[in-house]
Amino acid sequence: MYRSHTCGELRLADAGREVTLAGWVQRTRKMGGMTFIDLRDRYGITQLVVDESASPALNEEAGKLGREYVVQVKGQVAERSSKNNRIPTGEIEVQLHSIQVLNASVVPPFTIEDDSDGGEEIRSRFRYLDLRRNPLKKALELRHKMAHEVRNYLDAQHFMEIETPYLIKSTPEGARDFVVPSRMNPGQFYALPQSPQTFKQLLMVAGYDRYFQIVRCFRDEDLRADRQPEFTQIDCEMSFVEREDILNTFEGMCKALFKNVLGRELEGQFPRISYADAMNYYGSDKPDIRFGMKISELTDLVKGHGFGVFDDAPYIGGICVSGAAEYTRKQVDELTEWVKRPQVGAKGMVYVRCNADGSFKSSVDKFYGPEQLAAIATAMQAQPGDLILILCGPRKKTQEALGTLRIEMGNRLGLRNPEEYAPLWVCDFPLLEWDDETQRFYAMHHPFTAPKPEDMDKFFSDKKEDLEQVCANAYDFVLNGTEVGGGSIRIHDAQVQKRMFEVLGFSEADAEERFGFIINAFRYGAPPHGGIAFGFDRFCALFGGQETIRDYIAFPKNNQGRDVMLDAPAGIDQVQMDELFLESKAPVVEQ
Ligand code: AMO
Repeated sequence: MYRSHTCGELRLADAGREVTLAGWVQRTRKMGGMTFIDLRDRYGITQLVVDESASPALNEEAGKLGREYVVQVKGQVAERSSKNNRIPTGEIEVQLHSIQVLNASVVPPFTIEDDSDGGEEIRSRFRYLDLRRNPLKKALELRHKMAHEVRNYLDAQHFMEIETPYLIKSTPEGARDFVVPSRMNPGQFYALPQSPQTFKQLLMVAGYDRYFQIVRCFRDEDLRADRQPEFTQIDCEMSFVEREDILNTFEGMCKALFKNVLGRELEGQFPRISYADAMNYYGSDKPDIRFGMKISELTDLVKGHGFGVFDDAPYIGGICVSGAAEYTRKQVDELTEWVKRPQVGAKGMVYVRCNADGSFKSSVDKFYGPEQLAAIATAMQAQPGDLILILCGPRKKTQEALGTLRIEMGNRLGLRNPEEYAPLWVCDFPLLEWDDETQRFYAMHHPFTAPKPEDMDKFFSDKKEDLEQVCANAYDFVLNGTEVGGGSIRIHDAQVQKRMFEVLGFSEADAEERFGFIINAFRYGAPPHGGIAFGFDRFCALFGGQETIRDYIAFPKNNQGRDVMLDAPAGIDQVQMDELFLESKAPVVEQ
């Protein structure tokens, strides 16, 4: 037996017990003839002590221990004279009789403490050392607990966890595929799944009416704080259901997670908003509703007063920032520069300051008199002391810029309370998005999403305007401004599916080539079905109060999609290339 207890286990009640512990040496320090060692494992830290006068030889051994040595120690638990109430084992120490070094360690490249002195790069290279630190350990514990609760909940609801393959044919989810060459099928490639979308639908055809899988997905896309090239979904599908059944089932799952993982009871139904309202009021399809500051459209109100910029704009909208009237001219100028950044994309910004005495000051008061400014303030429900910020331009782009500005102001004014969780369903997305560049429609979710039944006529119409108006029976789950999940009721009719591929510009032969298997399956009795997938890494990060998902993944990639610990991706040798019938066109990089 390597150990009788873990390093997080011993308490005052254990005083007098003979124990054996094993773990890593966090640090050693000498004080007045005593050597103290902090011994660490996954469960905590226990203080060990050696008394030089009682055992000079052991003291010498203790003095030789370096950081991160792996040791096994035997000793007796004793009450500490100076207690440490910051750790659960802080009332005791173990007075050692023996130390056995199980393995020495070279000096680690950074300190393995909560606030490490190591930068991101070095900690990523030595991820296995970084994982010894508490913040990462807590993140992975949270992830484990969430996965466990998800399985508990879904199992109780009669969902079956079924694995689906990773070496597949491309599934269109909008990103690029990662591909894997096939040695046995020269010149042919597998794609790694962007999600198990088609498989879960085939499982519905097969009769497994409640499926889930906590599953890895792969997408070759630009990375951000909440995006990784390989990430995990809680992927779910149900048969014989309507949208309401799915929203209720997964609202239940979210509530169970909040309750059992965070100890929070979320009362009542999660609010719902249509995509159109989300864009009109929040300038985003993933609104953070922890604070108000909704967008108001001002197009009709402010046009026709001789201010050319507004008069020519297809859309004008604003937000009212409570209590920000004291913003100085300099601060407003800085904000104007901020909205002009390419990430926000506005051309400029107009402000109306609602002074405490009821008067107004605006950057455009040459064109708008006090009464007109008062009308704007009334339309925006502004109070004295508020600052109105107005942007104009093409509708969607301007709404999005206002949405970005709203979040920025929410951040600056501390309105996004990290202690608060505001879940939201966003529903009724457009089914299709027109792309001017390629002159074709793209599926806003994916090509298996059903149009809303009432829009079916428009879906079969040949007019672009009709198709643009078709709503999808799709929904996203949004938490604090992050899209955590998305899903839809699916097409289960072969004719409708065929039409979808046609609308997306696939020739019949193309559709047959790429999706023949699913079109075919639908001819053998596909039940009505629908589902959803949650971004599991994002869910975990939000529960942990973080924006970046990287720490919730044991071995993540960096922003260039590299695993800096493995130094992957990497070239392969010529033999492997030949076996795979591959030839590289990449420029040779000097190592
Ligand atoms: P979707 O593409 O919306 O839907 O993905 C579902 C959820 O997965 C998360 N997600 C990601 N998380 C981390 N890194 C990424 N690169 C990444 N991409 C997506 C998001 C997102 O909401 N098959 C459909 C689901 C369905 O219709 O049932 C799908 O994959 O949180």
